[in-house]
Amino acid sequence: MRPTPLDVEKISRLIQGHDQNVLMLGVTPDYAGVGTRLTAVDRTPQMINQHWPQDSERCTALYGDWLDLPFDDGAYSSVIGDGSINSAASGLTGLFREMRRVLKGSGVAAIRVFCSPEKPQSLAEVAYGYLEQPDLNSTALRFRIAMAIAHQFPGYTVRLEKVLEHFNEMFPDRGLLAEKTGWEQTDIARFDSLKGSDFEVGFPTREHILTHAKRSFASAYFVESEGYPLAELCPVLVLR
Ligand SMILES: C[S@@+](CC[C@H](N)C(=O)[O-])C[C@H]1O[C@@H](n2cnc3c(N)ncnc32)[C@H](O)[C@@H]1O
Repeated sequence: MRPTPLDVEKISRLIQGHDQNVLMLGVTPDYAGVGTRLTAVDRTPQMINQHWPQDSERCTALYGDWLDLPFDDGAYSSVIGDGSINSAASGLTGLFREMRRVLKGSGVAAIRVFCSPEKPQSLAEVAYGYLEQPDLNSTALRFRIAMAIAHQFPGYTVRLEKVLEHFNEMFPDRGLLAEKTGWEQTDIARFDSLKGSDFEVGFPTREHILTHAKRSFASAYFVESEGYPLAELCPVLVLR
């Protein structure tokens, strides 16, 4: 589910004219080349160390909290990110308020978001769909399961261990899943890395996100993504 070159091009196009001083929420390395200057912020030093290409004069990664950014009002001409809203879905109002604060008045934000469908698929529909017509990889299945259950939780926020529990119930025969999907057993076994995880990710609906975003931004809308499984559920949120 990493951003494709098309996603990177789309984000660059959406902030065109506002890319002098870009703030990135997170350290998605694929976007490190965006903007005349770029500052990436993440609160996990390990993520910065593992994922961020070296700092340069043009782009830097800093340790910090998106809900309390260490920057002056209006310091940035644009804000970008990939899945950042999913990682902070339980505090959307505060997140959007802080994004608006650090943006110039004329600034724009463009962030790819993984959104649950307004009418969620049931787990049975997800399971049946997979045995009939699988997506290309097991990460897409992980997302589909999380999106099917997200509506049950406050802020649409799912503890990832729940995804493993449902996966095991839906596909007790991993051999059959491997046969139907053509996936390697090692790819399927990646689900087991969720065991014991207390990591939480939010999969809000588009409407939920727009409701929160419009409390801070005059304009909020989605631009569609394309070219990969689940693209219809990974639009780019644009805020002005
Ligand atoms: C699933 S990871 C990846 C997110 C994004 N796709 C990226 O490449 O950076 C989620 C990241 O969001 C960061 N994060 C979540 N909430 C945050 C917050 N309030 N402030 C700063 N970083 C935050 C975590 O530290 C983690 O590195």
